[in-house]
Amino acid sequence: MAEAGTMLPETIIQKIEAETGKYPTRRAAVKSALRYAQAEFGWISEDVVKAVAEVLGLERIEVFEVATFYDMFYTRPVGRFPVRVCTNVSCLLRGADGIMESLCQNLGVEAGETTADGRFTVFAAECLGACGGAPMMAVGDDYHEDLKADELDKILERYR
Ligand code: FES
Repeated sequence: MAEAGTMLPETIIQKIEAETGKYPTRRAAVKSALRYAQAEFGWISEDVVKAVAEVLGLERIEVFEVATFYDMFYTRPVGRFPVRVCTNVSCLLRGADGIMESLCQNLGVEAGETTADGRFTVFAAECLGACGGAPMMAVGDDYHEDLKADELDKILERYR
């Protein structure tokens, strides 16, 4: 991952510009721009907010509002693999609490914390759109569904 700075790499700027062409306003490309920036830097720092705002011709607050509204954007440094455990209704009814407890126990952290090796950060997440596979969690961009607590170690092993 690149080091966060005040300037986005040219490749990211080009991707953002390409995205703006898909919408009637540049503002509509904020979410895509943040997604590209987060893939580059790992999280959305103040410098990234500023740079995205500059590219799109927006106020920083307009970008910051989007970054803080969606829980897939991280406004603080996170582990290499953010682990988002869905705790919404379908997953809750199918044992999300137990999954979260086992996961935290396995990794030695509480929800919201990062493991000592910087590999995983655990989050309680709202519905991730995979209710049919409840309970589920996302590790980075990978969805793991129909979870059972005794399978967590095997799943996490793929990211260690
Ligand atoms: Fe968990 Fe929808 S409620 S994915």
